[in-house]
Amino acid sequence: MQSVRVWDLPTRLFHWLLALAVVALVVSAKVGGDAMNLHMRLGYGVFALLLFRLAWGVVGGRWSRFASFAPTPARLRAYLKGHTPIDTQVGHNPLGALSVLAMLAVLSMQVGTGLLADDEIAYAGPLAARASEAVVKLASRYHTGPGQALILALVALHVLAIIAYAWRGHALVRPMISGDKTMAQAAAVAVSRDTAGTRLFALVLLALSAAVVYAVVRWGDAAALA
Ligand code: HEM
Ligand code: HEM
Repeated sequence: MQSVRVWDLPTRLFHWLLALAVVALVVSAKVGGDAMNLHMRLGYGVFALLLFRLAWGVVGGRWSRFASFAPTPARLRAYLKGHTPIDTQVGHNPLGALSVLAMLAVLSMQVGTGLLADDEIAYAGPLAARASEAVVKLASRYHTGPGQALILALVALHVLAIIAYAWRGHALVRPMISGDKTMAQAAAVAVSRDTAGTRLFALVLLALSAAVVYAVVRWGDAAALA
């Protein structure tokens, strides 16, 4: 048995910051009132995290790259038939990959519609002033209706799946904390690079992501003030 670095530090920080932010987003939306200021700020944070993850999915550690866990129909079929080649045991397995991609897509939709939403009382996303009334209505309806429901359902499924895997002897949470999996065939497995250099690079990508979010919000706010 040997240890393999699967989740680099940037991926792990991304995950736990995202999880915390999403819980706080749902709570702040339910509290409403002044908490909506916090809601929108946290929403910008998730926007930056998602942009970062998109970039990290191309240039990040070996097992964080989208190409390493693309859930193609062939890989899904094989996995469901019980074939688990070594590459599906290291990073996300094909079924997990499907849920990860669904969560990232649904969270992106939630951020996009949040930026466009308007509660018609006190709070509006920064892009509401740049869009037509019909688009703002549609975005608000999606954000508070199906968007909210999809996120709650996918997160519940995510946590239940992780409990089910733990039940069957696959401890997935520890690697998402420490970064490492212990495997018998470790010698045959590629590792995720996770050095001071790659971590610094991730920080630069996160700063760039935050700059994009800042620019989008400023652009929207400029129209709201006009
Ligand atoms: C709102 C809450 C949560 C959200 C939005 C969320 C989202 C995600 C996402 C997007 C990934 C993919 C990571 C990546 O490759 O970038 C992931 C993986 C993972 N999450 Fe969460 N997560 C949440 C809560 C949790 C909780 C509470 C736990 C622990 C019980 C957890 C444990 C894990 C684990 C173990 C993985 C890796 C799964 C694997 O090995 O394939 N997550 N999560
Ligand atoms: C993943 C990120 C987000 C999640 C999970 C989320 C979640 C929610 C939820 C659950 C509600 C509905 C509360 C209710 O009435 O039941 C809501 C409302 C709202 N959110 Fe978000 N939100 C996110 C991102 C954003 C962003 C980025 C913005 C804007 C900057 C935003 C702005 C709003 C506004 C203005 C409302 C009130 C809409 C209305 O009442 O029509 N949200 N959000």
